[in-house]
Amino acid sequence: MKLLRHSIFLSILFVSLPSSHSCTPNDKNALLQIKKSLNNPSLLSSWNPRTDCCTGWTGVECTDRRVTSLTVSSGDVSGQIPAQIGDLLDLRTLDFSYLTHLTGNIPHTITKLKNLDLLRLKQTNLSGPIPDYISELKSVTFLDLSFNQFTGPIPGSLSQMPKLEAIQINDNKLTGSIPNSFGYFVGKVPNLYLFNNKLSGKIPESLSKYDFNAVDLSGNGFIGDGSMFFGRNKTTIRIDLSRNLFQFDLSKVQFARSIVSLDLSQNRIFGKIPRQLTRLRLEHFNVSYNRLCGKIPRGGLLQTFEPSAFSHNLCLCGTPLKPC
Ligand SMILES: *[C@@H]1O[C@H](CO)[C@@H](O)[C@H](O)[C@H]1NC(C)=O
Ligand SMILES: *[C@@H]1O[C@H](CO)[C@@H](O)[C@H](O)[C@H]1NC(C)=O
Ligand SMILES: *[C@@H]1O[C@H](CO)[C@@H](O)[C@H](O)[C@H]1NC(C)=O
Repeated sequence: MKLLRHSIFLSILFVSLPSSHSCTPNDKNALLQIKKSLNNPSLLSSWNPRTDCCTGWTGVECTDRRVTSLTVSSGDVSGQIPAQIGDLLDLRTLDFSYLTHLTGNIPHTITKLKNLDLLRLKQTNLSGPIPDYISELKSVTFLDLSFNQFTGPIPGSLSQMPKLEAIQINDNKLTGSIPNSFGYFVGKVPNLYLFNNKLSGKIPESLSKYDFNAVDLSGNGFIGDGSMFFGRNKTTIRIDLSRNLFQFDLSKVQFARSIVSLDLSQNRIFGKIPRQLTRLRLEHFNVSYNRLCGKIPRGGLLQTFEPSAFSHNLCLCGTPLKPC
């Protein structure tokens, strides 16, 4: 009798104490509600209420029994990002990508994810303005909202995110100009990927003090000066200002030695190609479709690029174009 009672006690202990790997009930409930909101996609068929969510659930990773990473990618998901996403309080990585039937906007509850490091909502059908409250995610280092249907302006508050290293909001339908607040990043100077939007206006002059690693503004309607991204002492690697309405004198631009990729094509840039460019280790270079004039300086890698990298200017000449 005593032995029996003892073994009953042991087995109750066994079933009621979760193993060291199993996820907390709070996280499991949140995930199951998320699955339901996404219309029970077959992509998430492994999310079985009778199994441990930290073991074998597609896209779920745990640390110390808490869900710290959630990746839902390339599947038959439909509907909106569920508000319950905010209940996964220890989430560090949130990646909802390549989901063409994911609609709506980003729920406000996302601001509860104080440890979120990577937020990727790429190539879905999210729409509406990029919410200002994204900037409340103070731990985010990598923000990728590219290839969506976002409209409206770039929230100026993005400059208030102290750890941000990359702003990837390219390939949306964003309008307006680069916010003035981008002259005042509170933390690191992030890589700026703003290409293929409907952005316009002048670039704030205050951006000249920053040493960006990479800037891609191509395929917008920016006007005026774009030379503030350059500077002899910077360490910038990649600059793409192509397919805009930039208008500045290239002769006056000082190039950093670090530049590897430079695309200025399809603008209204005038002046000469500076000799300094022969000193760069360029892998990609294109100044076609501008208003440049004069002899292409000889030397370095400049003559290794095809004529199309220089063509359609006002009066550029010399190899690889026709002699002057
Ligand atoms: C994306 O959403 C729009 C409405 O915002 C809808 O018209 C369109 O069909 C959706 N595209 C896909 C691929 O689901
Ligand atoms: C670049 O650095 C050199 C040497 O450190 C310095 O003399 C020069 O003033 C700097 N130029 C600019 C534009 O900051
Ligand atoms: C340069 O850009 C023009 C216009 O975008 C393009 O047609 C051409 O192929 C490019 N050439 C090179 C070498 O990248």
